[in-house]
Amino acid sequence: MNIEEIMDVIKSRRSVRSYTDAPVEEEKLSRIIEAGLFAPSGVNFQPWYFVVVRTPENKDKLLQIMQGVSKDAEPMLQDRFQKHPQTVREVTGFLKTLGNAPVVILAFQLKDSYPKEGDVIPQSIGAAIQNMLLAAHAMGIGSCWIGAPSETGADKRIHEEFAPDKGPFMAMITLGYPAKVPPAPKRKEGRFVLI
Ligand SMILES: Cc1cc2nc3c(=O)[nH]c(=O)nc-3n(C[C@H](O)[C@H](O)[C@H](O)COP(=O)(O)O)c2cc1C
Repeated sequence: MNIEEIMDVIKSRRSVRSYTDAPVEEEKLSRIIEAGLFAPSGVNFQPWYFVVVRTPENKDKLLQIMQGVSKDAEPMLQDRFQKHPQTVREVTGFLKTLGNAPVVILAFQLKDSYPKEGDVIPQSIGAAIQNMLLAAHAMGIGSCWIGAPSETGADKRIHEEFAPDKGPFMAMITLGYPAKVPPAPKRKEGRFVLI
């Protein structure tokens, strides 16, 4: 293991919101999923369930839902980015089209509920998602973690359409070869202390 390489993968990963038409190779996709499955999880519940959306029919079904997410998220984004209308346009455009991503992974909780208080379940699923983003990036595949459906209430519809017998929808990840890689947003000060 080489820490320089690992740090490079961590630091050079970006949220990619625009993809080329090139498909993601099966082998690379398998490795991305494998990376997710090897994340740590509270009580070793491995509380995740991933639906990998690739066919045109399933992507269309998802994009229809995302049209609504984009529309419903717009007022919230306008409020959040009052001085940056371009950002609002970019994010709503991305939510509507998913940036032409050839693959989208939907992350659900495996079960409706777990015998554990607190938020170990979403934390564990977040760890799996981050593992997948890093594995993808290490193989030249861009990604973006999307939490917006839960903010607009579309999470219920995604659950009903794609995994009605599993637990709630948590987030989705777009995957594909980047058409455009944005610059790194500045990392903010005051986020740690050594004691
Ligand atoms: C929990 C979570 C939810 C996110 N939801 C969205 C989203 O709905 N739409 C989007 O465009 N980006 C989303 N992002 C990506 C962030 O905007 C992005 O990570 C952040 O701006 C830092 O940029 P970077 O990933 O290139 O370092 C999300 C990221 C996380 C971790």
